[in-house]
Amino acid sequence: MRIAVISAEAVPYSKTGGLGDVAGALPKALRQIGHDAFLITPCYWQTKGEHLWRTAVDYLPVEWRGGIYPAKVFYSEANGSPTFLIDAPSYFHRDSIYGYREDHERFAFFNHAALTLIRRFGPAPDIVHLNDWHTGFAAVEIAHLRYWENYWRNTRTVFSIHNLAYQGVFDAGELWKFGFSSDFERNAFLSNGAASAMKAGLSTADMLSTVSRTYGYEMQTHENGYGLDWLLRQRSNKLFGIVNGVDFDVWNPETDTELPHHYSKFDLSGKRENKRALLDRFSLPIDLDRPIFASVTRLTSQKGIELIQEVVWDILATGAYFISLGSGDKSYENFFQKLRDTVPNQVGIYTGYNESLAHLIEAGADMFLMPSRFEPCGLNQMYSLRYGTIPIVRAVGGLEDTVHDFNALDGSGNGFKFKEFRADKFLEKIYEALFAYAEPETWRKLQLNGMSEDHSWENAARKYIQLYQLARS
Ligand code: ADP
Ligand code: GLC
Repeated sequence: MRIAVISAEAVPYSKTGGLGDVAGALPKALRQIGHDAFLITPCYWQTKGEHLWRTAVDYLPVEWRGGIYPAKVFYSEANGSPTFLIDAPSYFHRDSIYGYREDHERFAFFNHAALTLIRRFGPAPDIVHLNDWHTGFAAVEIAHLRYWENYWRNTRTVFSIHNLAYQGVFDAGELWKFGFSSDFERNAFLSNGAASAMKAGLSTADMLSTVSRTYGYEMQTHENGYGLDWLLRQRSNKLFGIVNGVDFDVWNPETDTELPHHYSKFDLSGKRENKRALLDRFSLPIDLDRPIFASVTRLTSQKGIELIQEVVWDILATGAYFISLGSGDKSYENFFQKLRDTVPNQVGIYTGYNESLAHLIEAGADMFLMPSRFEPCGLNQMYSLRYGTIPIVRAVGGLEDTVHDFNALDGSGNGFKFKEFRADKFLEKIYEALFAYAEPETWRKLQLNGMSEDHSWENAARKYIQLYQLARS
């Protein structure tokens, strides 16, 4: 099958969160199981020159806002699949990837440029796989073009929801500027009197998917549907949940190039050495017997940071370390900085984004905290499982699907899981984890349970192929 994956971010070219990890890994996994997959993503300022690109198209004339935008296209295989990077400096050469008033215009352009590129070069893809609101525009455009251009007639679209909370809402009066002028196109976008790129994708793609089964159900509820639950319920026969995989070329403690010491489930001694390196990295006193609780995340309310704020004093009271890497809302950033200043011998805080440190934390920590309010999939709990770091999570979305509460009686389970969004429930699980940690045999069993699981992208890619086949049937 010929598959075009289109995404606003993709590792190693750009990343703000899990979408980047997924879009970087999926086309590679699809190729590895024999399909002709390629990736299209923007070329940001941040997409540095280290990925050995060459110019694929010097001049791509994109019809845009009544004129021609002269885009350029770079080519790279740095993520293991052919990748086309759309270069449009006025839209993408900026200080950050998102966060501009005209983000909707930037991505409307990106979608149109991506389809222009596909149309000009090579046979039509069987599947165009779109991701999140940034690509809802292309779902509408293809649904529309199918009736007018033979080229697109047999192409089917799959739209994956990674996070329903971000919807790309803008003034519907702008739609015509981006070339969406028919009733069909306008209706696809219209949501409560405004235009929503997320709604456009959800209403016009041939198939919908999301990144875990549980989130697939949750987002059909009023509580988690962000105003679009009605549409998801209406289209639920087209909606499938496929849990993300882990890219073992990037996240594997046996080969991870960011780690000072490698290890595997057969010999965990390297993990202890990474723990030493991690404590050293934060200039904390080195006591390898005390557990390290860690968190690596965007600091937003989605991630349940309030619960961490409530339990962290109790964690520190047990003598454990707490290490956090993250950036986001200033109030959370300030809280963690103050915590560090108050208890400098037990707390390590890095405010910002640091890929290499994320790997060292996964390898060096003992427990990983993810008390999310909602979590479509979550990747860090899967990285933790692979790295022998025990996840303590709230039972929502992908966390519910991938973490199984430890049962001390029969030794089953791979982590600790609580349901209600309450600090006391979270704390109960933290204490359970500490009990297990105090018994080396039990802890090792827990680690091995997680490290032995198969969260490979190959599994997920095979499920996507089934979904693509369904879209074409
Ligand atoms: P989300 O996409 O909602 O942010 P995920 O768990 O799916 O959540 O993915 C987050 C990804 O971003 C992981 O690869 C994680 O390691 C990474 N990440 C988040 N914050 C940081 C940070 N401050 N520094 C480095 N990596 C980070
Ligand atoms: C989103 C979600 C996260 C998911 C990621 C990749 O950012 O918040 O849970 O893992 O997308 O699908």
